[in-house]
Amino acid sequence: MNKDFLKLSDLNKDEVLGLIKETTELKQLKTKGTAHRPLEGKTLGMIFNKNSTRTRISFEVGMFELGGHSLFLTPDQMQLGRGETIADSARVLSRYLDGILIRTFDFKEVEELAKHSSIPVINGLTDLNHPIQVLSDLFTIHEKLGHLDEIKIAYVGDGNNVAYSWITAAAMFDLRLSVACPASCKPELPKEISIPDSIEITEDPFFAVKDADVIYTDVWISMGQEDADEKVSLLKPYQINQSLVDAAKKDTLVMHCLPAHREMEITTKVLEGKNSIVFDQAENRLHLQKALLKTLLS
Ligand code: CP
Ligand code: NVA
Repeated sequence: MNKDFLKLSDLNKDEVLGLIKETTELKQLKTKGTAHRPLEGKTLGMIFNKNSTRTRISFEVGMFELGGHSLFLTPDQMQLGRGETIADSARVLSRYLDGILIRTFDFKEVEELAKHSSIPVINGLTDLNHPIQVLSDLFTIHEKLGHLDEIKIAYVGDGNNVAYSWITAAAMFDLRLSVACPASCKPELPKEISIPDSIEITEDPFFAVKDADVIYTDVWISMGQEDADEKVSLLKPYQINQSLVDAAKKDTLVMHCLPAHREMEITTKVLEGKNSIVFDQAENRLHLQKALLKTLLS
């Protein structure tokens, strides 16, 4: 396995399936109340340049449950915020820590950190991608459906960092992925992979959800993009509401990486409805990340 997890394609399909298996085991241990502390004595530094609820707390709790420790770090309280370079910070942190999680704006900063660190670096979201989210979502879908073969995902909404990572996941697992978004909100296509024909981009949300096993959405306005009223009006036809859910497979799973803006990208009725698995999805961040931490840090 690579030293770092910066993008989904840093893992291959077998490694993802291995992590899914490990996650199942760790989740069972936790359910039984069995302690499992393979990371005793290890410390994860967590650099957050953007807000977070799920990522921060699930990594922090995950390290604790694995017997390790975590440090919440914000650049404005580090010398990083006063001009110390990422390269020097990486070299110093590598002398103290056993791994670094970073959430920031520019993906290049994450690459720079990983390049100069001798310890694993995990990407906790950038403007470009959100690989840890989609890795965890693959586990959730596998848990719910029992497999990842020949499934169809409809990603409806803004073609953002989460959509980018979904495109990589779909290419890796030969999933059918239909991304529905306005022309001006199309996702960037990952350059590090070849895009198969099973991935399509459409402006028609009803076309996208036809036969979908999963309908997925995310916020319309991502962190750092505030002040985007025009984008909100363009995205209105892409709301996940009951009529869109009714146009998919009967038992389609509705997923949202959260935080949700109710009555914007998703209605409360759908979020709280029988197809929604969003809170199981959120919980699984903890279990999957523990499997990743155990693999990379031990
Ligand atoms: N989905 C997700 O990454 O949530 P947070 O921004 O709360 O970490
Ligand atoms: N696309 C969102 C995801 C939040 C978890 C953002 O970048 O703000």
